[in-house]
Amino acid sequence: MAQSETSPTLPAPIRPATAAAIAEAAEILRDGGLVAFPTETVYGLGGDATCDRAVAAIFEAKGRPSFNPLIAHVASLEQAEALVEMTLDARRLAARFWPGPLTLVLPRRPDSPVSLLASAGLDSVAVRMPDHPVALALIAAAGRPLAAPSANRSGAVSPTEAGHVAECLGGRVALILDGGPCRVGVESTVLDLSGDRPAVLRPGGIEVETLEAVLGLALPHGADRPDAPRSPGQMESHYAPGLPVRPDAAFAESGEALLGFGPAEAATLNLSPSGDLEEAAANLFAMLRALDRPEYGGIAVMPIPRYGLGLAINDRLRRAAAPRPK
Ligand code: TXA
Ligand code: MG
Repeated sequence: MAQSETSPTLPAPIRPATAAAIAEAAEILRDGGLVAFPTETVYGLGGDATCDRAVAAIFEAKGRPSFNPLIAHVASLEQAEALVEMTLDARRLAARFWPGPLTLVLPRRPDSPVSLLASAGLDSVAVRMPDHPVALALIAAAGRPLAAPSANRSGAVSPTEAGHVAECLGGRVALILDGGPCRVGVESTVLDLSGDRPAVLRPGGIEVETLEAVLGLALPHGADRPDAPRSPGQMESHYAPGLPVRPDAAFAESGEALLGFGPAEAATLNLSPSGDLEEAAANLFAMLRALDRPEYGGIAVMPIPRYGLGLAINDRLRRAAAPRPK
């Protein structure tokens, strides 16, 4: 049953996400199998969130530590309400941002059908409604919430195109639904509403400043977070390409590729020549992949402003640059 670490078996078929392919994918999910599918943030590796066997297969396929819980993806508010206690703040935020790149960590309902393995035995469950027609159609057709981490091996760069999924998880997933490149490009913002006060566990596609304005309070996040890590998934080394990454670089040192931001003649690739953070987020993972080549000794990345989507981009770059586990 265990697959070899290094040599996945046959590559999974990539199929355009037609109605027929979505129906086939839903059938696989109802049988406890795994399907990769597009969301607005990154591609997800989906399985039935209520099925221990499917959830175990996700951890196995990703090589992910089982103490790191998964997000349950839903297609409707009613579906979320069956899984978690939707607090007043949760309702307000869901009304405003769902479907969209906001994940809410909420108290698990006593009768929640979500596999305890998916929530790593915590008394909270993370839920989100993705803003992508293929994802929403797939969840609705499967008729159950889908547990879906990013469809990459644990610790590696997240996939924003179907081809990226095939490269890293090819033989470990039954089907890859191709919905083109992901619009947002960085993962959802994870907001914890299960504790005494709300906290951002991971900056992402919804800007922290926007959440603060809606909630009417300042949210602890990143370095200001006194209680880090509340999110077991926020391990230091993550999102890492093969090459070393050097953020906040004014220019490339010898042998390095330069990933630019804003006007930069010398950039090997540029996240956004006009300095647009949305464009930079959408390009981030694909460009890290493209520069992860043997002719370079490392990837230097020019400074990215630390506000809005820049918080998510800097978070990913800091982890990509963190010391790697042996
Ligand atoms: O945009 C996204 O969120 C993508 C797409 C596929 O939806 N998914 C994604 O999943 O990024 P994943 O598994 O790579 O990240 C989920 C994050 C992890 O940091 C995990 O620790 C945290 O959410 N998380 C999940 N359940 C939690 C819980 N009950 N309490 C605290 N953190 C939780
Ligand atoms: Mg991930």
